[in-house]
Amino acid sequence: MNNNLAKEIKENGIVKIKNFLLPKELIRLSNIVNFYKAPKGDKESVFLTNFKILSIKLLKFKFRSLAHTYELAKFKKKKKLDQIARDFFNKQVNSNYIDGYYSKVDNKDILPWHTDQAYSGSKKPDTKFYNPDNFYLKFFIYLTNVSSNNGCMSYIPKTHKIAYEIRKGIYNKEISYQPYWSLKDFRNIVKDNQNFLNKKTSSEIIENFLKDTEFEDSINTTNKYDYNATAGTMIIFDEGGIHRGSKPTLNDRMVIRYLIKPS
Ligand SMILES: [Fe+2]
Repeated sequence: MNNNLAKEIKENGIVKIKNFLLPKELIRLSNIVNFYKAPKGDKESVFLTNFKILSIKLLKFKFRSLAHTYELAKFKKKKKLDQIARDFFNKQVNSNYIDGYYSKVDNKDILPWHTDQAYSGSKKPDTKFYNPDNFYLKFFIYLTNVSSNNGCMSYIPKTHKIAYEIRKGIYNKEISYQPYWSLKDFRNIVKDNQNFLNKKTSSEIIENFLKDTEFEDSINTTNKYDYNATAGTMIIFDEGGIHRGSKPTLNDRMVIRYLIKPS
């Protein structure tokens, strides 16, 4: 089962598992996120990042939060998420990031199509380039229903393979850096290095990607790549693949995330 999941993520960049949570697990995890109602990025939404955060919680007598952290870490173990990640990366993993956040109904813009691990599209990244193998496999567990234009995630399958070769090519100085966070810039770097990427992935993958994302207007409005999900569904994805997020326009959204990378 785990091996098949890892294989599918390696192939497509993403997998969706319906009814991942049992009804009682859904209630329990929802209670935890609902207790804080913390928005994304808020410190109350973060259960675990490193051991420092645990010490701070302890010093501040945040025993309830510590208990929740413990419960969420235990849940991860029970569901063997680390094993899926180990099978995916083929190496030992570090899984010390857990958060759970609450997004209220909102009509603001969608986070547009982008790839993670791309220096946020800066023209001149002032940091040295990261090792291309150092990226997250992200586990999103939905605690509420999500759908098109209502908090769902969209993901263009197989684009994680292209992104990986771009990061690796830049890291190994085989291709030169240019911004590639947004889909538009990503398409440009692909076109500028098409022969190199054809050899590293396949000309079929590159051609399909360029064709499928040709008309920016239609790609922006399409729901072809949407991953609708009912509460209790989990999606696992390679963060390098081109994806976008939509705001919850119909109902509040609750999600628990486990981010796992090679150690
Ligand atoms: Fe992202």
